[in-house]
Amino acid sequence: MSEERSSDEVLAASLSLAGDIGRLRGFYDAWAAQYDDDLADEAWVAPGVITEVFDAYLSADTPDPAARAELAVLDVACGTGQVGVLLAERGYRVVDGVDLSVAMVERARALGVYRDLRGGCDLLEPLDLPPVAYDAVVCCGVFTRGHVPPSAMENLLPPVKPGGLVVLSTRRSYHESEDADAAIAAIVASGRVELVGIERDAPYIEEEPGHYIVFRVR
Ligand SMILES: C[S@@+](CC[C@H](N)C(=O)[O-])C[C@H]1O[C@@H](n2cnc3c(N)ncnc32)[C@H](O)[C@@H]1O
Repeated sequence: MSEERSSDEVLAASLSLAGDIGRLRGFYDAWAAQYDDDLADEAWVAPGVITEVFDAYLSADTPDPAARAELAVLDVACGTGQVGVLLAERGYRVVDGVDLSVAMVERARALGVYRDLRGGCDLLEPLDLPPVAYDAVVCCGVFTRGHVPPSAMENLLPPVKPGGLVVLSTRRSYHESEDADAAIAAIVASGRVELVGIERDAPYIEEEPGHYIVFRVR
């Protein structure tokens, strides 16, 4: 894809897909082989930052590294597996991934760091997974322009055990334009989660910072 277009142009195109599932799937299927290189050109640091935030909160809950290594983690919108690699480097051994794009998931599969992977999963719907199977969910890069609305955050909750954590990123301009704070307040008001952390204006991508949000499922 980016043999014809610069990484700037491809990134801009990815943010203008208007949340259309068919367009998103087709776009990411076509981008999969070039995604990591293009995002490296855009200083895509969100996977590193979210992994750091994720590990800090999980380490506070589970200080023993051997016990932490066995926690079941679900990486939602896992893409090519950048977060999975970083979690593996920190010792997490039981990490599953889901994504809308089958081609992105196949890139992730080739890395050999995930236990199980599934493509064709749409975060706009409740994820078709066994409920309360995971100790934590991580979700990097899909709460952004043209992808999914902040209300889809609630679809991250059912796979998580009571007391487990959900750690997600938002791109700052998206967070503001989509009023993600209102969606977060509504999810908290529903009583299903507690907001345990929000790291605002942290490094995300060259163009702008992002926010990192941590919920604890009740
Ligand atoms: C910017 S990429 C982030 C990928 C990866 N998490 C990372 O940090 O590099 C966004 C990902 O969200 C996926 N995606 C887009 N819309 C989705 C949806 N409705 N449900 C699930 N995944 C979706 C895309 O296929 C893509 O892999």
